[in-house]
Amino acid sequence: MDHAVETTLTVNGTPVTQRIEPRQHLVDFLREELGLTGSHVGCEHGVCGACTVRVNGEIVRGCLMLAVQANGCKVETVEGLSDSKELAVLQKAFHEKNALQCGFCTPGMLMAAQDLVRSKQKYTREEIRAHISGNYCRCTGYQSIVDAIEEVVNGQG
Ligand code: FES
Ligand code: FES
Repeated sequence: MDHAVETTLTVNGTPVTQRIEPRQHLVDFLREELGLTGSHVGCEHGVCGACTVRVNGEIVRGCLMLAVQANGCKVETVEGLSDSKELAVLQKAFHEKNALQCGFCTPGMLMAAQDLVRSKQKYTREEIRAHISGNYCRCTGYQSIVDAIEEVVNGQG
């Protein structure tokens, strides 16, 4: 029996209406149905942050939210940030500071870091660490990631 539920949301500004299986998680819907594979799936238990997306402006774990729960919501993924100045400067800083190795955590890190860039405030390294504490990186030791974010957020006029 088909239990799919008609769901309407916007994804990176584009309206999407689709019948969605009630048990499908948001990150799986984005990846498998819409081909937005920038959001990664790591732990699938809300621990690693690889699946970070934004729903109605708030950072959420795409593996903990059902896609049907996004009905009526505005969803943003790392792909949708590609034209934003914030992402461009963060990407450049990550590159220059060697803030990624395998890159698995990077989309989630960028989504989380974008909050700090958008706020236009200055942050201490401790505050930056606290903000990205829900995003795990198994490669870098975090030092270079904090370096990159610090350079961007504290270098803003
Ligand atoms: S895959 Fe969602 S938090 Fe790890
Ligand atoms: S760069 Fe590999 S997990 Fe962060």
